[in-house]
Amino acid sequence: MKRVTLIPGDGIGPEISDSVVMILEAAGVKIDWDIQTAGADVAQTEGTVLPQRVIESIRQNKVALKAPVTTPIGKGFRSVNVALRKELDLYANLRPCKNIDGIKTPFQGIDLVVVRENTEDLYAGIERKIDEDTAESIKIITRSASTRIAKYAFEYALKHGRKKIHAVTKANICKLSDGLFLDCARTVAADYPQVEYKEILVDNLCMQLVQKPQQFDMLLLPNLYGDIVSDLTAGLIGGLGVAQGANIGDCCAVFEPVHGSAPDIKGQNKANPTALLICAINMLKHIGEEEKAQKIERALYSILAEGKVLTCDLGGNAGTTEFTHEIIKRLR
Ligand code: NAI
Repeated sequence: MKRVTLIPGDGIGPEISDSVVMILEAAGVKIDWDIQTAGADVAQTEGTVLPQRVIESIRQNKVALKAPVTTPIGKGFRSVNVALRKELDLYANLRPCKNIDGIKTPFQGIDLVVVRENTEDLYAGIERKIDEDTAESIKIITRSASTRIAKYAFEYALKHGRKKIHAVTKANICKLSDGLFLDCARTVAADYPQVEYKEILVDNLCMQLVQKPQQFDMLLLPNLYGDIVSDLTAGLIGGLGVAQGANIGDCCAVFEPVHGSAPDIKGQNKANPTALLICAINMLKHIGEEEKAQKIERALYSILAEGKVLTCDLGGNAGTTEFTHEIIKRLR
């Protein structure tokens, strides 16, 4: 039986994890879940938000499904997510965005993939207070990480029949750092003549994404722009409740939704498990469980297309449990 690390997270994390585990079980998927807690509660007992046992579990199992974990703003510990990506060198953050039948949004015909560099940029966490009224954050961009992510994007394009990649920067202002990122993207692009290569500034991209998102196929971005833009693209297809993501490295893959721990709806049976479920479906495909993955996919997408049993974020009034049971019913 395949062993997979499961990080239930906090906030709505445990609710949506329970839902997804139940659905996979009902679909006949045999997984030996290696449950690993992380986050603020763990820090109180183990002194760190990301104990070594979590890292070791993922290293051993090579694949993980991760629900969101809260990161306090402006103080306290560093993000579990950032630390995990760094420790395991999960350098590619992949966020595909495609319209889902039945989910109403003002935008149709969207089918794009965001590839975000996941290990450096402002997320290097190099910050200091210069004096009481001045703070400094350092943005690190290296040739090796930029080349690696550009190669990943072009290889992904070839493998998945994608035709066009836009490299996204603010190289008109950050001439050295974003300039280097762009230089690496151009060099890699020259080895992939089959894929059209374009460049766009991040501010213009944001405007174009809300005016004519259909023109984009793949976006290649440094870490911070990638983080922000992928929330925007999630909004284009119906919001965070349905936006999937994956963090990929050479040794391991961690599948996790784009959304956070949603403390505002924690414990209210309102959370939409769809994003985590789509991540689980991708995880199943990744470990070779294609048939079961498709079975769950059919059940999920038929419910969404019908639009009768939907969670609040999608305009419905079903709770997490009702939505979960409806999917399970359709698996039979
Ligand atoms: P958030 O994504 O948790 O919530 C934003 C809004 O979307 C809220 O109104 C929330 O109720 C709603 N929402 C999010 N997911 C939903 C779902 N599955 N179903 C229904 N509604 C949903 O973003 P926010 O509030 O900025 O972050 C909360 C915490 O999550 C922060 O501590 C943040 O650092 C953390 N976070 C963790 C991530 C991770 O673990 N990968 C990613 C993003 C944020």
